Amino acid sequence: MLFGFLRSSLPLGFFEGACDMHSHLLPGVDDGFPDFEKTMEGLALLKKLGYSKAKMTPHFMRDYQENTCAAIEIKFQEFLTQAGDALPLELSLGGEYMLDSTFMDRFEEGFLTLDKGGSLVLCETSYMNADPMAREMIYKIMLKGYRPVIAHPERYNYAAMPMYKRWKEKDYLLQMNLFSLGGAYGPPAKAKAHHLLKEGMYDYVGTDLHRVANVDRFLADIRLTAKERDQLEILLENNKGL
Ligand SMILES: [Fe+2]
Repeated sequence: MLFGFLRSSLPLGFFEGACDMHSHLLPGVDDGFPDFEKTMEGLALLKKLGYSKAKMTPHFMRDYQENTCAAIEIKFQEFLTQAGDALPLELSLGGEYMLDSTFMDRFEEGFLTLDKGGSLVLCETSYMNADPMAREMIYKIMLKGYRPVIAHPERYNYAAMPMYKRWKEKDYLLQMNLFSLGGAYGPPAKAKAHHLLKEGMYDYVGTDLHRVANVDRFLADIRLTAKERDQLEILLENNKGL
């Protein structure tokens, strides 16, 4: 297409009515938002961008073993009660599961899934390398009817296109971090995010919001071709089905 290489900023109102499906907005449970007030700032920011729904997906990993489904569900309800009518957008709860040595214990208690049907599990690995057992862990949960959504694949230093293609062949779903497109995680993650987006490899997009600092800058740094913007719109539409 003529001028298909031209890049532009996201138009005003691009996120109107959107659903964020990956965030660390539940206060005080991981390395994300530390307290109620900061979380309300984060929610106000998403609202300002146009989002109408957000999913809180706290970390479940070796570092946060106290984060059980039951404990997180209680914290979520407490947050909703405290926020009351001041809540600027609709919230739901999920989790982000590290494929580490604690993962199969989580399997015993069940997962906080991304979808209402209870099958989509947001999974991540460390950035440097995946646990040698990660593939088997995913295989085991898939045998039980779960489907993995791999969080921010563009951020994994050990992965490249052939591996992403294998993941898609195995029916894994892929979730892009929105701010990867603006370079929030460095040039290699930015380049991979643009390439995977252009190739139609992603299924969902989330902010993976941990704090409000720099969000305006990250957003302003996102420059997309028309094709990439069309793909991003598809992902935002997919998010609505969660
Ligand atoms: Fe995350």
